[in-house]
Amino acid sequence: MSADKNKKSISGFSKLTKLGKMKWLVENFFIDPENVMRELKSYWLQDDQQKVLDGFSENTISNFLLPYGVAPNFVINGKTYVVPMVTEESSVVAAASAAAKFWMTRGGFNAKVIDTQKIGQVHFLWEGASSKLFNIFPELKDRLKKDTAHITANMDKRGGGILDIELLDKTEDLSNYYQLKASFETCDSMGANFINSVLEEFGLILCDFIQEQKDFDEVEQECEVIMAILSNYTPDCLVRTWVECPVEDLGDFPNEMDARTFADRFCQAVWIATIDPYRATTHNKGIFNGIDAVVLATGNDFRAIEACGHTYASSKGQYRSLSSCKIKDGRFHFSMDLPLAVGTVGGLTKLHPIAKRSLELMGNPNAEELMGIIAATGLAQNFAALRSLVTTGIQKGHMKMHLQNILNHLEATEEEATAAMKHFHDKVVSFNNVRNLLDQLREPKSRRNLTNSN
Ligand code: MEV
Repeated sequence: MSADKNKKSISGFSKLTKLGKMKWLVENFFIDPENVMRELKSYWLQDDQQKVLDGFSENTISNFLLPYGVAPNFVINGKTYVVPMVTEESSVVAAASAAAKFWMTRGGFNAKVIDTQKIGQVHFLWEGASSKLFNIFPELKDRLKKDTAHITANMDKRGGGILDIELLDKTEDLSNYYQLKASFETCDSMGANFINSVLEEFGLILCDFIQEQKDFDEVEQECEVIMAILSNYTPDCLVRTWVECPVEDLGDFPNEMDARTFADRFCQAVWIATIDPYRATTHNKGIFNGIDAVVLATGNDFRAIEACGHTYASSKGQYRSLSSCKIKDGRFHFSMDLPLAVGTVGGLTKLHPIAKRSLELMGNPNAEELMGIIAATGLAQNFAALRSLVTTGIQKGHMKMHLQNILNHLEATEEEATAAMKHFHDKVVSFNNVRNLLDQLREPKSRRNLTNSN
């Protein structure tokens, strides 16, 4: 190991023991190394549990905690779920729960998986007349399938595997650039490892096959694979979710807003997110507040889900709302189509101890059922946000949770917290206002009386 003079960089860090890594960090980056060391260690789990977690990543020194909450009363396709959610944002779980309860008595959420195809690509360069490549493609396609059978055998047995392979001429965008675009069915797994293994093999087979072509000249027999990797854009791994009810069944809303006014305002709000990318981004962020929380709780890849969702939101040429709303024949209809490539086997889903429990909590759904649950939670989150936005505004609910966080931060006692909740029931919450109130409450009684009598 060697560290530079100012000790902010190091070589051989990954080779240090966990304690060695921590020691170097606390001694070089913190003013109170002993305390930091103690604190980091306090988040360690028992040895066997910690080993599992450490196995997921590299250079691990501790664990980063996030709240694990649940939203009960989610009725989806007639089945009632308690949905696990991992999020650091206050109000998200409360909002999902409130929306779930609201729709529970109005028919619940509906979810329908439209398709479950995943996509992968081999990007390669080849010089020659493209017709020559297309002529050999049918034979190449058979060969690609046949020569990857050893990788796909298990997936084939489970009812999945390679669905199709296309050859795409991309030479107008980049000289000599072609693509093998393959679609896959990966059943209950997200399938990233499976797809990437197949694609890398495709790359090798492709180059061998091209080299074997007797009527290709020397240049034509060369093929350069730039990369082989799945695409996280999976527009055909799509789930539709929706809620609907007669407008009058929506009930009454705060500020004496009737159901019809609410429904109209709600639809306008969704439409604004459809036509304005600034609003669409926040609108969709609210949807992902719900989606990411369940994706995380089930050990799925939230970066992949986010990336895909945002590309899908731009698929009509402009970034727009993922959800849509209409009022037709007196019925309120709120829906969303969303690509969701998730798994219930493989990856972290069964390795992460809590992810495994999350799946158990929902009755061990298969991947398609999980797609429905996740999408419904996203729609619920969106419903809750818009319901607040078009009626009371978002801050009322948010600030209640925020108040609790401020009170925790200022180490309020239970008694002080109760007094603060009462005080701020109809007042604006801010850090300063809460601190002032606590200062007042903490003043010795005699001084307080004196101040009050002045
Ligand atoms: C906050 O995390 C999410 C919202 O801003 C979403 C929205 O505005 O629709 C409330």
